[in-house]
Amino acid sequence: MYLLHPRPAYAVCSLASGVLDCLAASWITPVSRQPPILMVALAPRRATYALIRSSRKATVNVLEWGMLKSLHYLGSVSLSKNPDKMAASGVKVVVVDEYPKIEGALAVLYCDLRTHINMGDHDAVFLDVVRVEYGEAFTPKPRVRDYKYVLHVGGGEYTSNTDSVVSF
Ligand SMILES: Cc1cc2nc3c(=O)[nH]c(=O)nc-3n(C[C@H](O)[C@H](O)[C@H](O)COP(=O)(O)O)c2cc1C
Repeated sequence: MYLLHPRPAYAVCSLASGVLDCLAASWITPVSRQPPILMVALAPRRATYALIRSSRKATVNVLEWGMLKSLHYLGSVSLSKNPDKMAASGVKVVVVDEYPKIEGALAVLYCDLRTHINMGDHDAVFLDVVRVEYGEAFTPKPRVRDYKYVLHVGGGEYTSNTDSVVSF
């Protein structure tokens, strides 16, 4: 599957019954513009996924290169084995209308769980995007000359975009 990398990696967060968790996800893609729907492939054992199934709410947080260490941490440590995961993550999470979002994210997509389908070792998890927040990094579209976005090479390796744009 690394033949389709490097690909963008994001932090996906959820909160259910007072339990908060975020993971890193690079198997994530838009699947519909109208209505806006995302698909994220999640392994059933991910603790964050259990929270999404329970609360039916999640956020997808676009983190800048400067937050890479935290993103990698969220993707390497599981709440199921480390109850203090989020306290040691280096990210500050703010809860808005029961959606937990990461402070300082370049963009936040607020999502409701639409459906999930078992596919094998990962489920296809479809999320309705119900609200978005973004700042300069996406005004009016991704500003690759000014911002470094995170791309996952594989394992613990990452890269970023160049600042050149070819325009047709
Ligand atoms: C860059 C990166 C991308 C990842 N992408 C995914 C993904 O798309 N789907 C998935 O199920 N796990 C993915 N993982 C693994 C989870 O983020 C990881 O297992 C995490 O520790 C799960 O935490 P949790 O059990 O607390 O939810 C990725 C890990 C990294 C480092």
